[in-house]
This record gives sequence, structure tokens and C-alpha cells, in this order.
Amino acid sequence: MNCCMNRLSRSLLIALVCYCASATGLPAEETAAERGYRHLLETPYVPAYFSQEVFDNLWKAWPAPLRVEAENATAEQRRGMAFRRYGLTTRPGDDSGLPLQFVVDEAGNWTPNCFTCHGGHIAGKTIPGLPNAHYALQTLIQEARLTKLRLQEPLATIDYGALVMPLGTTHGTTNAVIFGVALAAYRDADLNVVPASNQTRLVHHDMDAPPWWHFSKKQRLYLEGFATKGHRPLMQFALDRTNGPEKFNAWENDFRDIYAYLESLEPPPYPFDVNTELARQGEQVFHRVCAECHGTYGDRPTYPERNIPLAEVGTDRARYDALTRRHHRDYQRNWFSRYGADPVVVDPPGYVAPPLDGIWASAPYFHNGSVPTLWHVLHPDERPVVWTRTTDDGYDQRRVGLDVETLTNVPRGLDVWTRRAHFDTRMFGKSGGGHLFPDALTAAEKQAVLEYLKQL
Ligand code: HEC
Ligand code: HEC
Repeated sequence: MNCCMNRLSRSLLIALVCYCASATGLPAEETAAERGYRHLLETPYVPAYFSQEVFDNLWKAWPAPLRVEAENATAEQRRGMAFRRYGLTTRPGDDSGLPLQFVVDEAGNWTPNCFTCHGGHIAGKTIPGLPNAHYALQTLIQEARLTKLRLQEPLATIDYGALVMPLGTTHGTTNAVIFGVALAAYRDADLNVVPASNQTRLVHHDMDAPPWWHFSKKQRLYLEGFATKGHRPLMQFALDRTNGPEKFNAWENDFRDIYAYLESLEPPPYPFDVNTELARQGEQVFHRVCAECHGTYGDRPTYPERNIPLAEVGTDRARYDALTRRHHRDYQRNWFSRYGADPVVVDPPGYVAPPLDGIWASAPYFHNGSVPTLWHVLHPDERPVVWTRTTDDGYDQRRVGLDVETLTNVPRGLDVWTRRAHFDTRMFGKSGGGHLFPDALTAAEKQAVLEYLKQL
């Protein structure tokens, strides 16, 4: 009786507190997903990259015409130029001017968060969870290093990392998987930091991050689906040597919230016109040729989460070769998979066919970001050898994807930023070939499927 009374009075108390909160206009209690988003923006989980002072002086490391333009600009314009150059945005629905992609603390330390790779903009809109197809990590770190040397500020962990490892050779893509592999080699199964005893050959290659709004559809994570979905795999991002096992344990609740945030995300709707009659025809073709791998959409969606053998999908194989059976076994034995309690696919045959929700927004396509538009995905013979954006954010409504210029070669004599703005599919890990399934379609069917894909 006593215990029931206690419970009753506690629920009355909670009800009263909630009532008072809403009556007084105090914010209602945050949901787990809201807390997750806040952790991403406010909690530094890795060491900072640089100070505010360094960020404000980056422009002095730019090539001449741009540097002169920056010199004559206001501080605010200069900040805008820096955001554009490195692929940063402000936070949607927030007028603080702070970057979505970095935690900036009171002391002015800039610490990268997940949105550096997982928060970008397309067709004029910033979308948290959209792969950041503008992120210029390598250029940012190089120019920050020059600035630190000039200001006599100490170098950060990332600066030493960048000396031994490429960070990303084309804007919008990073060598993220190999960062994880290299850092995991310094850990035992309980995540204690140990001398690198199990380092294997590092196959450097760049990837375009997948969109986060697919998270809720998936049971397994990553391109070959090796890891069971959970909050712990998300914590691999924090594998910096300064974070010991106690930090990972202490941060688990934060990452449960981040998990809830990822689960809550929805794909962004296509912002332009769709020819619904043509799209309906495309849906039939899609069901016949594509749905067995990519699932169905609409009221009762299905998603088979099929792993397709590498020889059958035929897209670039560097990612497949970079994570070996041995890496998957190590993962199966460690804290991230709860010592194998969360099943690990040790020997996957190839890559998992992703869901295609919001596919209009997540250009460029394939895991390495090699194909700029959906039209090019559907026309394997016409995919460009080299492509570069025409403008910072141009959207091609006809071909559905990035507005690009296609070339047969990267022009000579470009400054590094402009060179990295050219995607060269002949480089290692960057092939735009494979996925020839659309060859089964007539030209008219491809046109109809293209229309259908807009509205997923
Ligand atoms: C440096 C870039 C980078 C950062 C920072 C980063 N990621 Fe990723 N993320 C990637 C790339 C690239 C992949 C694709 C890896 C693969 O499939 O092999 C990925 C994959 C994922 C996936 C799997 C999605 C799927 O559909 O299988 C999740 C979930 C994820 N990241 C969450 C996070 C979270 C949470 C953080 C921050 C704690 C984070 N990432 C930080 C680049 C990054
Ligand atoms: C046999 C299985 C299979 C079939 C059939 C198939 N696909 Fe795919 N698709 C895949 C796989 C696997 C990938 C991932 C390839 C990669 O990223 O390297 C993929 C990737 C894609 C992507 C890029 C996704 C992204 O996020 O970058 C698009 C778009 C796509 N497929 C559209 C289609 C369409 C349209 C059809 C039908 C004409 C089709 N696919 C048929 C397996 C398939």
C-alpha cells in the first residue's frame, strides 16, 4: 500500500511538474532524439582541430586572388568565404552563426563532430544527416597547419595524423574508414590503448558518407553490412588515443541518444516538380528490375538489405579490399560488438544495396561518390571520366543530381583546392564503373525510372 501510494504520489508530482512547465512556458522535457542532436553540437568527443584565432586567420593561407578578396571583405563576409571553401554551413533554425559541423566551446576551440561528414547542403538547403559533399578536410587541415605555424600555435593530433595519412583527395570524400582501421590497431579488445601490434597494410581510399535517414531501415551498418546496428559502433568516431575505455563507458548514454536521433531522421522531399504520370510508369519498371535489391517504397515499404557479391555489382573494389576478414574478426572480439554478442559478418561477399529514400539529395552516387547524377547511374556508358561542379551548389533537375562539367582530364596547373574539386575516376578507389543493371532498360524506361527516383 505504502509503495502504491508512493508511486501514485510520484506520478501526480510528475504530472504537476509537466503541467506547470507547459503553463509557465518552460520547455517540455527533451526527447532522446533531441538530446542526441544537442550532444552532437555541444560535446567534444575528440581533440580540437584549431582555435578561433586560427580559423579567423585561415584566409591568409589562400591563393592570391581569393586572399585579396578576403582582405578587402568584412569579417563576416570572410567567415562566409571560409565556410564555403571548406564545406561548412550554419545550423538550420539557429541564428547563432555557429557551424553545424563543429563544436565551438566558450574558449573558442573548434572540435569536429559527426556532421563534418554527415551534415551538408544541396539545392540551397542545409540538411543534418545529408552526406557533406562539400567537405574539404585535407585542404582545411593543411591551411590550418600553415596558420598555426604562422601564429606559433601548437599543432593538434590531426596535424600529425595528416603527415602519415591522406585525409581525402577529393572534396566531399574522406579516408574515414582507414582512420578507424589505423586507430583501432592501437587498441586491445577492451579499448585500452596499446602499442600498435596488429597494424596491417592500410589501403587508403576515399568514401562518400551514406545518408543518415537510412539508419532506421537498416539492421546492419556499413557498406558490406558487417556490424549489427547499435549505439556502440557509432562510438568508433571517438577512437582518438586520448580517449581511454573509461571515456567510452561514460559516453554510452550520450550515444544511446545519438542513436535515437539517427532513428528519428526522415528523407528530405524533392523540392522541384515531378511528372507524376511518368513517375507511375517508372515505378512499374523499378519493381521489375530494381526492387529485388533496393526494396519498395510508398505506404508499405520493404527493404531486403541484400549483400550483392562484388563481381555482380562491379563498383569500385578498394573499399572491399581495405577491410579484411581479419579486421572484421578483430571487431567481433571487441567492445564495439559487445564481444561478438552483436553478430558480425566476418566474410561478406560484396556490398549491401542501400535504400533509395531521398536519393535525389545524396548526390554524388555510389559509395565512393564517383557518379554525379542519377541520369549517369542509369547510363553507365556515359559516366564522366572527370567531373567538377559548375557552381558551389548547382542542382541539375534534368539529370537529377549535381550540376557538373564533364572532362576527359584534370586541367594542368590548378591550385590544390581547385584540383581537389575535380573528381578523377581513374584514380585508385575512385572508379565510376559497374552497377550495369540499368542496361536492362530501354531509353524510355530509364527516363521513367529517373522521374520515379525523384519522389522516393
Ligand atoms: C571523417 C568523416 C566521418 C565522420 C567524422 C563520421 N563519419 Fe560516419 N561514416 C563516414 C563514412 C565514410 C561512412 C561509410 C563507411 C562504410 O560504409 O564503410 C560512415 C558510416 C556511418 C554509418 C553507417 C551508415 C549506414 O548506412 O551503414 C553511421 C551510422 C555513421 N557513419 C554514424 C556516424 C556518427 C554517429 C558519427 C559521429 C560520432 C560519424 N559517423 C562520424 C564518415 C564519417
Ligand atoms: C542485384 C542487385 C541490384 C540491382 C538489381 C540494382 N541495384 Fe542499385 N545498387 C546495388 C548495390 C549493391 C549498390 C551499391 C553500390 C556501391 O555503392 O558501390 C547500388 C547502388 C545504387 C545507387 C546509388 C546509391 C547511393 O546511395 O549512392 C542507385 C541510385 C541505384 N543503385 C539505383 C538502381 C536502379 C534504378 C536499379 C534498377 C534499374 C538498380 N539500382 C538495380 C544493387 C542493385
